Amino acid sequence: MQNELSEALEVALSIAREAGEVIREAFLRPKDVIHKGAVDLVTETDKAVEKLVISRLQERFPTHLFLGEETTEKEVITNEPTWCIDPIDGTTNFVHRYPFSAVCIALCIDKTPVVGVVHNPILGETFYAAKGQGAFLNGKPLSVSPTTELSQAVVATNIGYDRTEKGIDFTLGNLRALLLRSVRAVRLCGSAALGVCDVAVGRVDAYYEWGVRSWDIAAAVCIAREAGAVAMDPSLQELDLTSRRVLVCCSTKLGESMSRVLCHKHPTL
Ligand code: IPD
Ligand code: CA
Repeated sequence: MQNELSEALEVALSIAREAGEVIREAFLRPKDVIHKGAVDLVTETDKAVEKLVISRLQERFPTHLFLGEETTEKEVITNEPTWCIDPIDGTTNFVHRYPFSAVCIALCIDKTPVVGVVHNPILGETFYAAKGQGAFLNGKPLSVSPTTELSQAVVATNIGYDRTEKGIDFTLGNLRALLLRSVRAVRLCGSAALGVCDVAVGRVDAYYEWGVRSWDIAAAVCIAREAGAVAMDPSLQELDLTSRRVLVCCSTKLGESMSRVLCHKHPTL
């Protein structure tokens, strides 16, 4: 199994680098922006990269299943080997030339991410992991920070695309609750995948969000876990990649505190 995971990781890394070149070349150019929703954007580059990544993976793994942000209609992950792809996580950043965008490629088996690559071609940062083999950033081993206390924690999240009044109240309510508990700082980089990878590197201590999709977080969750993080449902139950909520923390103790402070009753999810 370990050899198969290593091979899958090598393939994913090579495809992510090829896809990264497409993203990097388009980054400074004017873009045709299509609206999937009021503030949810997609570009020709997102679509082209997804096509490239899936076709390359299909050549190597013809029996596997595929989920991609721009092509999947029904977000379902079975126990079968399934590749979960976000061609550009941080599409709004990409459109606005804010340099936090990444191509994300994960292999899930039994609904668990076992291989993950998150490649930011703009800043030249490639995070990757295979289950049981550790996590790396540009070849250097990763481990999470030792933080256990909310008062010493830098917490990352993102706002997502919900612009309903109730959704905004929920999002701001959770930020307010964390700030009232004196978390040291809050960071929002505009990419769920890169936010979760920041936990893996130890740049931040926790990431949470309601509204994420499996392709936003699958690869980064594999990387964060291999770096020693706990990735779970905010209720502390097992993480379901398609449940649209996630909590990733550098320590179980911090995770328990985060879970106590956060409101779990999202108005629509
Ligand atoms: C989004 C980003 C954003 C997060 C959303 C994601 P996209 O992905 O990761 O930071 O808040 O939940 O959907 O649209 O840039 O691929
Ligand atoms: Ca995404």
